[in-house]
Order: sequence, then structure tokens, then C-alpha cells
Amino acid sequence: MDQPVNGPKNEEMWARYDAVIPGGGVYVTRSARFAGRDVMPGFIESAEGCRLTDVDGKSYIDFNCGNGPNLLGYRFPEVDKAAFEQSQIMDLSAFFPAKMPDYAERLLEWAPDFDWAIFTKNGSDSTNLSLRIMRAAKNRPYIVLLKSAYHGFGVELALSPEAGLEEHQKFVIRVPWNDPQALLEVADQYGEQLAGLMLNPLDQNPVQETVDISPEMVTALKEFRRRTGALIAIDDVRHGFRIHPKGSHIHMGIDPDLLCLGKAQANGYATSTILGKEAVRAGAEEIQFTATYMFSPVSFVAGITTLNVYERDNVFQHMEDMGTLLKDGLEKIGRETGHEDIIMTGPPAMLTLLFSKDQKAKRARTFGRHAAQLGAIFHPTLNWFISYAHKQADIEEALDIARKAFEQTPTDVEQM
Ligand SMILES: Cc1ncc(COP(=O)(O)O)c(C=O)c1O
Repeated sequence: MDQPVNGPKNEEMWARYDAVIPGGGVYVTRSARFAGRDVMPGFIESAEGCRLTDVDGKSYIDFNCGNGPNLLGYRFPEVDKAAFEQSQIMDLSAFFPAKMPDYAERLLEWAPDFDWAIFTKNGSDSTNLSLRIMRAAKNRPYIVLLKSAYHGFGVELALSPEAGLEEHQKFVIRVPWNDPQALLEVADQYGEQLAGLMLNPLDQNPVQETVDISPEMVTALKEFRRRTGALIAIDDVRHGFRIHPKGSHIHMGIDPDLLCLGKAQANGYATSTILGKEAVRAGAEEIQFTATYMFSPVSFVAGITTLNVYERDNVFQHMEDMGTLLKDGLEKIGRETGHEDIIMTGPPAMLTLLFSKDQKAKRARTFGRHAAQLGAIFHPTLNWFISYAHKQADIEEALDIARKAFEQTPTDVEQM
């Protein structure tokens, strides 16, 4: 009989959770829909580097990095020290923190294509606010999004809108990824009613192969802009710093009007950002938007220190090397253990494991469950995140675990 992933303390906490916290889709990426309670650990007590320890004292090599933020690893000493020192001076007040212009200037130095920065808290704040800025800047109602693209919470952005939400999405048009013709048809149909378009750097969604943007789509985006005058926002909340150190727009070959950042920009401290061009500044100045926790100098100092480390250390090359080691290793071990249909998809720092003959990720769940039992977290449906804290020994240990987990996973979904 397999060891359960979750020990008795976790089980006790699930029972307490169920009594007082609504589950299901509310915290969707932690929910049973995406992994399963018997597949991933439930409740985590502590974290360091690339390792998590759950409430039962069991340790895991983690490839989720908090779904992206902890690019330097959990509790990176230099960032935590700077944040702690700031917390001893002050965090929130009803006024702007002195560190706010420092952080804006540092980000603009990091990404010199942009002229201003706005700070928000979650990635969703920056994506939702970007839609408002584009509309205000152009004084037009329609927004184009790409099909299946996740941009966080928000009524206009919801991918499976519940009853009544369709009404809130009537000014949103979705076109397929890499479909230049569909995009240009929208350009011609809606023309000067289009405020802007928001897209992710990659088409990377649960249980699917990651698809880069095609050169034809890049050309069509430029043409879309020329024909309509609409703005372009890139949602770099998840992919930022993991596809190109200086912003995914450089990898894509697109010069956006707005770039939304979040997650990895402050190594786990809660802040997110919109960077924008001068031409859109008036739109940003026009809208009314604020929230209590958006002005945390603790997060700003963490963000400045994180950027300094990114630029000083060989962080990005390291992630690429470790991601490649993991990818190549898993493909090889997968095949050696009879999983001929294994696909490792996505850039090295953001891999997804797929079994191509298993569209419902049943085998990926079984593999993930066995790996978690053995001490490594390979999420079965979402993309993973490599961090600077993953060293070669961690990857090798994870690969040893993966071999055992592959051996315990049926090679054919019919056997399950
Ligand atoms: C591409 C993308 N945009 C926006 C968001 C929303 O960010 P947050 O969860 O910080 O609100 C996410 C979160 O996963 C994301 O992946």
C-alpha cells in the first residue's frame, strides 16, 4: 500500500479547512480540480531555498515556487534582510512611501523601453488596471484577449464566467492564439472601437503544450496596431524574468505600450507593477484606482534588492541550465521506464510535463502523487517554475525520485 502524500496533521487541517473555508474553485490552483488532495501536499509549515516542509514534517523539493514568485528561492537572505530592515523603519501609511520613486526608477532602469511605473499588489490588479488604462487612453470600449489566456481574477477576464458575467464581458473579444487572420478580421470589424489588446508571452495553459508566438502573429499584431491605433499590453505576470531577463516582450519581438509584472519581481513579497510608455501616461492619470496595501515600502525594498541580485548574479543562466537538466533528465528517464509518450514542454524555467496519450492528465496525477510521496513536487497540470535555489544536486535528487515515480505509474491510461 502506498504511503499517503498527506500525513495525519495534514488530514486534520483539511477537516478544519473544510469547516471554515469555502474550497473548490475559490482558490483554484490549489484546488482538487487542478491537482487533487491526495496528489499534492496540503499544508506547508516552512520553506527554504527550493524545499518545503509540510505540517507533518515531511520535506519536498518544490517546483512550484509559490506559482512563480520565489525565483531566488524561499527566504533568500539578502532580500529578506533588506525587507526586514525596512519593516523596522515603517511599512504602510496613508501617504506615499519614500521608497516608491526609488523602486520606480530602478524598474525603469531595468526596462528602459518604458517611461513610468504604477504599483499594485497582485498580478490581477495590474492586468485589470491595464484594461482600464488602455480604455481611458483611447476613450474606446473594446479589448481583445487571446483564447484560453489566463490573466488573473476580474469579471472581464474570467475564463469560465458564471451566470451573469457574460454581460460584463460584452466588450471583450477573444481570438485564437497564432491566428493572424482572426486578429485582422477583428481589427477590420471593430476598428476604432478597439482600445487595446492584452496577451501573454506564450500560450501556456494547464494540460497543453506550450506554444510560442509565431512570426506571422507578431507581424499581424503590428498590423493590428497600425490599422486600429489600439494599444498593446503584455501580461508578463507569470513569465516575467523566466523567459527573458529584461522582459518577455524582448523575446517576443513586440514593443508593447504596457507591461504587467508581478510574481517574481520581488521574490515573494507582495507587489506588482505596470510599466508604461509616455503616450499612455495620460490614460493612467485619468482613472481612479487605489487600494490600501499597494504602497508597501517593505515590498518595494524587496523588489529593488531582487532586481539587484538578478543583475549581479548569474541567475537566468543558472535557471536555464537547471531547467534543461531537469527537462532532458525527465524525458530520458520517462522513456527508459516505458513512458514513450512523455512530452516536456515550455521554456526551461517553466516546464510542463504531459503524457500525450493521456488528455485528462490521469497518469500525470499518478506520477505527481508518487513523486510527492517520495519528496518532490511535480505539479500534474500547471507549469512548474525553476528557481535560482535549485542546484544540480537538487535536480539529480528530483530525477532519482522521478524514476521511482515513473516506475509506479501505468504507461497506459487503460490500465488505470
Ligand atoms: C499570466 C498571468 N496573469 C495574471 C495572473 C494573476 O496574478 P495574481 O495571481 O498575482 O493575481 C497570473 C497568475 O497566475 C498569471 O499566470
